[in-house]
Amino acid sequence: EEPAVLILKAADLTKNEVKIDYTGAQVWKISTNKTGIRPILTRLRRRNLISTWGGDHTSADILVKHDAIENVTRVFKRENIAYDVIIENLQKRIDEENPPLSPEEMELHDRRGHRMTWKQYHRLEDIHGFMDYLAKTYPSIISVKTIGKSYENRDLKILRISDGKSTNKAVFIDGGIHAREWISPATVTYFINQFAENFDVESDDVKNTDWYFLPVVNPDGYEHTHTVDRLWRKNRKPSNVARVCSGTDLNRNFGYRWGGKGASSNPCSETFRGRAAFSEPESKALADFITTSATNFSAYLTYHSYGQYLLYPWGYDNVVPPDYKEMDAVGKAMAQAIQSTGGSTYSVGSSSRLLYPASGGSDDWAKSRGIKYSYTIELSDTGRYGFILPVSYVEPVAKENLAGLRVLLKQIHQE
Ligand code: ARG
Ligand code: ZN
Repeated sequence: EEPAVLILKAADLTKNEVKIDYTGAQVWKISTNKTGIRPILTRLRRRNLISTWGGDHTSADILVKHDAIENVTRVFKRENIAYDVIIENLQKRIDEENPPLSPEEMELHDRRGHRMTWKQYHRLEDIHGFMDYLAKTYPSIISVKTIGKSYENRDLKILRISDGKSTNKAVFIDGGIHAREWISPATVTYFINQFAENFDVESDDVKNTDWYFLPVVNPDGYEHTHTVDRLWRKNRKPSNVARVCSGTDLNRNFGYRWGGKGASSNPCSETFRGRAAFSEPESKALADFITTSATNFSAYLTYHSYGQYLLYPWGYDNVVPPDYKEMDAVGKAMAQAIQSTGGSTYSVGSSSRLLYPASGGSDDWAKSRGIKYSYTIELSDTGRYGFILPVSYVEPVAKENLAGLRVLLKQIHQE
């Protein structure tokens, strides 16, 4: 036992990676209805006292670092800003989020040929191992393809499920564009598992679909959230030679109306748009795959968290596409199915109106390419746990969203 521990420590040291500790950090919810609050938040963010967690056009969830609490409290008192503490001690939540499986449980899973469960948030290796296992086990309907490499040279792996009928419709689903939104890859892999393991008895809608799944668009960021910083959002490409501030927000880097509202030109910002549209290998590989494949996709779904929203374009500004009523109606039917299956309430609308304008999103780009049903789905919850959603939520969240997905699927096959 001893040597293994030592080797691990040595590896950690050479990589110079120390896990960031969020002991004493808090998450606060503020109403932003009063004018003047947003600029105050922007200033605090620039001074590195707070960072943005979630929120919409009426509220903001902010993370307040432990040593900034006094300072920020003073500012809020002075400015008469009311807030609720939703998370008292963030590190405690992080420690409780993803408990290890018991050795007995582990052994049971190990015997299946892959390590994926929906009782744990898994490392990339397990997710990719699971995809390879399915391709090997069901070669007549499943294949895996590496569509490119991340900045740190990890595979961007797509899993395809199809029985090859030429009349099939095609659907593209991705997850993990934002590194810290762990419920997203967990949900997308749950869908994969459901369709792969039960294909023969699945609905005609499922069997009449060519499925393309990219569960982890941002593998470098995802691994970074496991090893260094649980709350990392962007990819890991350094912004310049000096390497001050790494990472581009991949959901601001897509090439439709790139560089507009809600996307920062500052590499230190959480919403840095990158140096140019598709400057990042991850967003570029995704777009190239969709563009160059001969497939005509009927739907593009990208899973994020959190907030429980079904969002459709446009995201870049407060305008809607000509066919938005159809997207709205299908979105509402999906939300209805989710609610009656699992009980969670999802709000439906265009993302610029429901949240805020943000340009360079993957959903806008997909829509601009003519993919009719393009949605960003913000999974659970609405802020109690936020990004640090306990792993016990994975199955219920994935399950109710599978019900939502089936409604969309039905619509596609009716057209
Ligand atoms: N929370 C997501 C983000 O900020 C929402 C994206 C919605 N789509 C869009 N094109 N703005 O990236
Ligand atoms: Zn996201």
